[in-house]
Amino acid sequence: MSAADGIVLRAETDADIDAIEVLTLVAFFEVEHSRHDEQRIVAALRADGALAVSRVAEHEGYVVGHAAASPVTLSDGTPGWYGLGPVSVGPGHRRRGIGTRLVGAVLDELRARGAAGCVVLGDPAFYRRCGFHAEPGLVLPGAPPGCFQAIAFGDRLLPLAEVEYHPAFAAG
Ligand SMILES: CC(C)(COP(=O)(O)OP(=O)(O)OC[C@H]1O[C@@H](n2cnc3c(N)ncnc32)[C@H](O)[C@@H]1OP(=O)(O)O)[C@@H](O)C(=O)NCCC(=O)NCCS
Repeated sequence: MSAADGIVLRAETDADIDAIEVLTLVAFFEVEHSRHDEQRIVAALRADGALAVSRVAEHEGYVVGHAAASPVTLSDGTPGWYGLGPVSVGPGHRRRGIGTRLVGAVLDELRARGAAGCVVLGDPAFYRRCGFHAEPGLVLPGAPPGCFQAIAFGDRLLPLAEVEYHPAFAAG
């Protein structure tokens, strides 16, 4: 997918792996509530075959944005749910809609694969703009209030369950 502003969104390739690592490290560098290991999470998901969706935003041949999704486990056994993240946009390319478009591209890909829904932990205002809502029945234990949101695809009902991310998200 390309746009008039020269930003191209596409699936990651092997040639992007190092650039995604550096971008992720830089993007989270000044994020207060970060363990600064998001680049390790992306690599661990990839190594485990759990990087279900990985989209990059490219500008003039450089990777300037990245968004990933991986499978999550719901305590009631509902299948087909994913967790969005990490999402990274290079500091010099923010507030131009790249993050919103990357998230939209990941959600479109999940829908196209017949996924049931997607959860996200992060800035509530940013992710609300992307279509997520706080859903009281879907719980991530320990998540700050309001920061864990979900989107169910199609006309599916939201499950009542606790959510567990892939082990790659555990502190390393
Ligand atoms: C969060 C993050 C991915 C957002 O990326 P982004 O490309 O800046 O996102 P967008 O441009 O789509 O939207 C962000 C802001 O830009 C605004 N914006 C979007 N398009 C715009 C445009 N054309 N002109 C001006 N502002 C615009 C949005 O309204 C939004 O503003 P707000 O947050 O102040 O309400 C990026 O800031 C980032 O990498 N942060 C560090 C890592 C991180 O926190 N990742 C997410 C984990 S929660």
